[in-house]
Amino acid sequence: MTSHRIVGFVVFCVLCAQGCQAGCVEVDSDTQAVAGNGFKLGCISCKKRSEVEATASITWLFQSPDDEDFREIYSYESVGVVQDEQFEGRIDWNGSKNTRDLQDGSIYLHNVTLNDSGIYKCNVYRLLTYQNYEFNSNATKVVHLNVAPKAKRELTSIISEIMMYVFIVGLTIWLVVEMVYCYRKIAAAGEEALRENAAEYLAITSESKENCTGVQVAE
Ligand SMILES: *[C@@H]1O[C@H](CO)[C@@H](O)[C@H](O)[C@H]1NC(C)=O
Ligand SMILES: *[C@@H]1O[C@H](CO)[C@@H](O)[C@H](O)[C@H]1NC(C)=O
Ligand SMILES: *[C@@H]1O[C@H](CO)[C@@H](O)[C@H](O)[C@H]1NC(C)=O
Ligand SMILES: *[C@@H]1O[C@H](CO)[C@@H](O)[C@H](O)[C@H]1NC(C)=O
Repeated sequence: MTSHRIVGFVVFCVLCAQGCQAGCVEVDSDTQAVAGNGFKLGCISCKKRSEVEATASITWLFQSPDDEDFREIYSYESVGVVQDEQFEGRIDWNGSKNTRDLQDGSIYLHNVTLNDSGIYKCNVYRLLTYQNYEFNSNATKVVHLNVAPKAKRELTSIISEIMMYVFIVGLTIWLVVEMVYCYRKIAAAGEEALRENAAEYLAITSESKENCTGVQVAE
């Protein structure tokens, strides 16, 4: 029973590993980057007919909110070339390796700046080669990238840290003050008790004197 399950599981895994390697899933790119960090701009375009030979090349375009139009920033066809000054030395290929038929055209952006916010377009130019003819199958993926400043997150964490220290110091001071206050109160109460005792003693003695005189008067 259990051994059957294990064998079934192993067979499933082997089939899946083979299938998954050949398979291609179009996953959308992340869209939230943090300034100063690296960021992977995802672009996956699956070949619909896996049995057909194909070659592909990729271009990446960018349009900032201030730009009128898209401009080409990167192209890949067996080697990657950065086409734009803003991205010079900051783009690495993160897509399919050692293949002419690129299905993953992702790129990696180093040291993201706030100026990198905007719309990215990934164009996949694919040429399918059938026996008697060739067929163009192009695809475009669009990524709306939003770059968040790094300082904002750091500032809030710094503030919460400071608040925590203020709270701890305040709590300690309050405890010390409370202890001193209590100690004084206890000490004062002790003295008070002593004084009260003395007063009581005097009162009793004078009362008994009065009583005595009273008794004497009554007689
Ligand atoms: C993408 O490229 C960066 C920089 O070259 C590298 O650190 C990272 O591991 C790559 N990621 C993938 C999934 O290839
Ligand atoms: C990213 O920035 C750091 C610090 O400013 C620098 O040392 C590094 O070379 C930069 N990396 C790239 C790929 O520009
Ligand atoms: C962003 O763009 C502005 C205006 O073009 C420029 O002055 C600034 O230096 C740029 N910042 C970075 C980090 O590239
Ligand atoms: C695909 O892109 C290439 C290069 O720009 C172009 O020549 C071709 O006509 C396009 N094919 C389709 C079907 O859009």
